[in-house]
Amino acid sequence: MTNKTAHIIDGKTLASASIAHTKKRIENLAERKITPRLDVVVVGSDPASLLYVNLKKKKADEIGIKARIHALDQTIGLNELIGFIQDLNKSPSTHGILVQMPLPNRSMEGRVMRAIAPEKDVDGLHPMNQGKLLLGESGLIPCTPKGCLHILHKTLGRNLSGLHAVIMGRSSIVGLPVGILLLHENCSVTYVHSKSNNPQELTRQADILITATGKANLVNESWIKPGACVIDVGISRQSKGLIGDIDFESVKNVAGFLTPVPGGVGPMTIAMLMENTVEAAELALIK
Ligand code: GUN
Repeated sequence: MTNKTAHIIDGKTLASASIAHTKKRIENLAERKITPRLDVVVVGSDPASLLYVNLKKKKADEIGIKARIHALDQTIGLNELIGFIQDLNKSPSTHGILVQMPLPNRSMEGRVMRAIAPEKDVDGLHPMNQGKLLLGESGLIPCTPKGCLHILHKTLGRNLSGLHAVIMGRSSIVGLPVGILLLHENCSVTYVHSKSNNPQELTRQADILITATGKANLVNESWIKPGACVIDVGISRQSKGLIGDIDFESVKNVAGFLTPVPGGVGPMTIAMLMENTVEAAELALIK
């Protein structure tokens, strides 16, 4: 038996290539005296959320997108928060609006998402954009699912038709939309979730496995079809650092391709946010 291990997908390198392409689009906008602008709203002081929004701003600043972070007090009421977003909706210099999730009051999230103008919703989470995604119409696509698809195209090629994709998780930010994107790529798509009776039987059929459960090291090699392309979206914070859903040391012996955590999907998500912000700025020009 050959002792071949998975090809480890380098998310940082893929993200850099994508960012280089986005930078060219920013230069084209600059010729028309337009600087893409991203307004990031963060409510409360959750350290992980603050870290993520600062990473997003740092990358934006680096490549010529003007980013502003609006850090709002966690006691802010729903109406005040929606009013804040509506002001950004009206501001012609703002092309993209992102409200970092989760909010301290999770029951507000749906209404806050709906308050963002769909054409500025660079997270792609407004029901209008999610609906367009479902129908296969062009709109802003959620960043992490878009990043997963980009990784798959760069790793397996443009043609994913006929492959069996198994998605673990059904959140509106990752699991649900990534399955729809892959359905539009003519994959056969199966969703596995916390109520599935036989998750391992299903994941063992996956040519493409995307995990977005947030349960550290949940998936080991016995869940994997030999040669599968495994994309780990999970992030759990533990004392030893960031841990994915995939037991990396075990799964790398069976999978054909595997993303690490960190350094896999994370950098691609930020790259796709930059791309969506530029797309929103370009679309504002032709409106
Ligand atoms: N929290 C975790 N992932 C995301 C994301 O993609 N967008 C927003 N707004 N919040 C998040």
